[in-house]
Amino acid sequence: MFKKLAITAVTALALSGGAAIAAGGEGHVEDFDFSFEGPFGTFDQMQLQRGLQVYTEICSACHGLKFVPLRTLHDEGGPGLPEDQVRAYAAQLEAFDPEIDDYRPLTPNDHFPESALENAPDLSLMAKARAGFHGPYGLGINQLVKGMGGAEYIASILHGYTGEEKVEAGTTLYENKAFPGGWIAMAPPLLGDDVEFADGHSTEIEHVAQDVAAFLTWTAEPKLNSRKQVGFTAVFFLSVLSVLLYLTNKRIWAPVKARAKGQKPE
Ligand code: HEC
Repeated sequence: MFKKLAITAVTALALSGGAAIAAGGEGHVEDFDFSFEGPFGTFDQMQLQRGLQVYTEICSACHGLKFVPLRTLHDEGGPGLPEDQVRAYAAQLEAFDPEIDDYRPLTPNDHFPESALENAPDLSLMAKARAGFHGPYGLGINQLVKGMGGAEYIASILHGYTGEEKVEAGTTLYENKAFPGGWIAMAPPLLGDDVEFADGHSTEIEHVAQDVAAFLTWTAEPKLNSRKQVGFTAVFFLSVLSVLLYLTNKRIWAPVKARAKGQKPE
């Protein structure tokens, strides 16, 4: 029975692997170091602020973040903008409001606008959606073992253009080492020195790509910092509890054990 199951599983895996290869194979994703990796990793607030700037100045021309409430830009575990800056940020955005049948400036209670370009996907959850991209048969093993996830994928896409392009059925496609299949419909959004950071951080493509990838990881998992903190506290308390239970257990059974020992020599 087990043998049969094993053979079926191996065949299924081999078939799905074959399908992936037939479709053009997986892209090559680089392993970047992010501050939020590992069990104790947390977001770097300055990096999230730089990423927000890159998103605002470049990506938002086409992409939206419709699941992200603007007020969360103020959150402690996120970019942490002061409230007046969040209000000012929202006020320079506009969206159509069916209630007044007109466009109006946004407030912190609104969400980021939707994608402006029809074929550009919403990026709110992209870092999560692409987290399990890698490893044998797409099982996401690399995320577990190497800490590689959606952030690496996004940074690799932005950094993975070869400069080649072709036109297929009226659409221009750009060769990209990280994109599955090798050709993406997004023109290279970063060309180097695309932004100017107030903190003087590097504006090379590789660094800007990591900053915006970190920001998009935050949009997909805004509670990462507090989740890890709670996890740590829980593990700590469970360890203390295990020690106490072990000692209690010994104490409770000590008389019984002593009696059993006393009877043995018979
Ligand atoms: C000129 C418009 C445009 C701009 C600017 C732009 N994108 Fe895109 N992006 C697209 C389009 C179109 C697609 C869909 C490509 C496809 O499916 O082949 C896309 C796809 C993506 C994807 C999804 C890849 C996937 O796995 O499906 C990511 C991630 C992405 N863009 C990130 C960004 C980031 C980050 C920026 C800002 C640095 C950005 N984009 C700027 C048009 C744009």
